[in-house]
Amino acid sequence: MERLPVTDTTHVLVLTGAGISAESGIPTFRDAGGLWEGHDVREVATLDGFVRDPLLVWRFYSQRRAALDGVVVNPAHHALAALEARLGERFLLVTQNIDGLHRAAGHTRLIELHGDLMRSRCSRCDRPPFEDRSVYRPNVAPMCGRCRAAGKDALLRPDVVWFGEPIDRGHLARIEAFVRAAGRSLVFLAVGTSGLVEPAASLVDAARTVGGHSWLVNAEPPANAARFDHVVLGKAGTTLPALLAA
Ligand code: OAD
Repeated sequence: MERLPVTDTTHVLVLTGAGISAESGIPTFRDAGGLWEGHDVREVATLDGFVRDPLLVWRFYSQRRAALDGVVVNPAHHALAALEARLGERFLLVTQNIDGLHRAAGHTRLIELHGDLMRSRCSRCDRPPFEDRSVYRPNVAPMCGRCRAAGKDALLRPDVVWFGEPIDRGHLARIEAFVRAAGRSLVFLAVGTSGLVEPAASLVDAARTVGGHSWLVNAEPPANAARFDHVVLGKAGTTLPALLAA
């Protein structure tokens, strides 16, 4: 079994997608039986869809919150947390997942690129996003409450990034700085992601530009597989602990 080449100077940037949580029992998006099979992305994961039918969107996210009940981290999450503990500042994890499992595994050097399922924010005012584990009843679209003081209440929305919405510039700047500082000592590792959604899908090119090496662990070859130096096919829960064994 191959090992990720990690020396005393190696910097590791990890990108994860839904595949890393699959063995915790959370469905991915694009696999058979995945979340996008039963739902139209435009209806439940865009701002237009939310404006058209907030009840439908909240039903979708409330179901996803309910589905997280009792879900626990798997050996792939633990293997990455152990790598962070080993490397400290030479490690950064970027996840597209909103399930909070990397945080539950103990990561602190973590960027949740697409937000957090268990947070909400106002769709209008600048009140900071707040923890919200509520599973709303199907006919309830939750309201901000604080906007009411200004005379007109506004809908709450999940604190997630929808299609067509920008990624937090601070997140992108932090990733860029990490890649630049690492230079040729960078090892980029993508796990469980289909390589179809930007900007995550192009992180592999950023790593290549600075002379780093790129690795991919995925159940099957994703759309951008040809852009990686090393491809390891297999389930993350078994493959990753072996690849990252100290
Ligand atoms: P996808 O569902 O597109 O891809 C999941 C990938 O994980 C696939 O390539 C699978 O082959 C692989 N996979 C499945 N089970 C696995 C396992 N046990 N071990 C390793 N790999 C496995 O999910 P993402 O790439 O995360 O965005 O999707 C990216 C973004 O598109 C999501 O964050 C979401 C979605 O639409 C938004 O909602 C904005």
